[in-house]
Amino acid sequence: MLYLNDSQMRKAVKYEEMLDAIEEAFLQHHSGHYYMPDRYTAESENRRMLYMPCFVKDVIGTKMLAEFPENPSKGLPYLSGLMILNDRDTGAPLAIMDGSTLTALRTGAVGGVAIRHLSDPDSHSAGLIGCGVQGLHQLAYASQVRPIRSCYLYDAYRNDYGDFIEKLRRMTAPKELLIKVCANSREVAEKSDILITATQSATPVFPEDPSLFRKKCVVAIGSWLPDHKEIPDAIWQTTQSVLTDLPFACEESGDLCQPLQTGLLRRENVRYMGDYLHEKKSGQAQPLGETRFYKSVGMGIFDVMAARLIWKKALERRCGQILAE
Ligand SMILES: NC(=O)c1ccc[n+]([C@@H]2O[C@H](COP(=O)([O-])OP(=O)(O)OC[C@H]3O[C@@H](n4cnc5c(N)ncnc54)[C@H](O)[C@@H]3O)[C@@H](O)[C@H]2O)c1
Repeated sequence: MLYLNDSQMRKAVKYEEMLDAIEEAFLQHHSGHYYMPDRYTAESENRRMLYMPCFVKDVIGTKMLAEFPENPSKGLPYLSGLMILNDRDTGAPLAIMDGSTLTALRTGAVGGVAIRHLSDPDSHSAGLIGCGVQGLHQLAYASQVRPIRSCYLYDAYRNDYGDFIEKLRRMTAPKELLIKVCANSREVAEKSDILITATQSATPVFPEDPSLFRKKCVVAIGSWLPDHKEIPDAIWQTTQSVLTDLPFACEESGDLCQPLQTGLLRRENVRYMGDYLHEKKSGQAQPLGETRFYKSVGMGIFDVMAARLIWKKALERRCGQILAE
């Protein structure tokens, strides 16, 4: 069995490979050739454990994530976890790897695939609300798929952006980005072609102003609980439809279940990214409106396809540590 830590996982895969693996995960989700029960969340005293198993053609993956909201105030990461990969025929464990690194890489690529297919190919600026682990990887992947020259940042709780900016520069080198910290989320939205939200916010992170979203690509990857919501209702004045990962997202995420309840969004206008990519590949995709909104809640098939890629590439490139049988 192979063990992979953060740096070994990053060394094993290239951005482009991860983007392609996630695109394949979306298409596999469309094809139905997988088994993925709804995510099971165990919660006690505001400490959440998420269990995400998924069976695909040759492997089974189970990600276990700990989501502890009080961690950031203690200087600890919000998310931590482990991924286990098993052989599909025998169940034998093949690999064990860092679950937070896997989450960051695959969620970055999920946002990257959305941007690759939904944004204007000529997008030069990306704005981020929520400068944490996921936000960093969202921008890194966005800059791989579009000719991004400027990044605009806003975080409601961060005073010092130095470490974030240094990591972003490292992850996007040799590109030399203009990186600017904005006074508020309105400024981010006004300056950016692509808008990304990656927070745990319970309430919308932008003002209720439709002009902030018109003709933009909006990728919301944070706040997945039903009583949480990152995107204001004003977005529904610029688009009728949304793309998301899977039907369960309509129950799980406030960005979808709240507008569905109030009638701002109709269920038939919720589309799934896997279906869209399949239709696009076969030249049958219905055109999207001028504002493109993708809400991700994540799903186990992303993790298993990303972990499978990392495991295969790590063996090829001799990364990681073989644990004795
Ligand atoms: N869609 C997916 O597949 C997926 C995957 C992983 C994590 N997530 C979600 O993404 C979110 C972020 O996770 P993370 O690991 O990056 O956490 P993090 O703590 O590293 O980063 C979140 C950042 O958002 C900032 N923030 C919080 N509320 C804000 C607000 N109202 N306005 C502006 N900034 C705000 C925080 O200060 C923090 O810097 C979480 O809700 C997590 O559950 C989604």
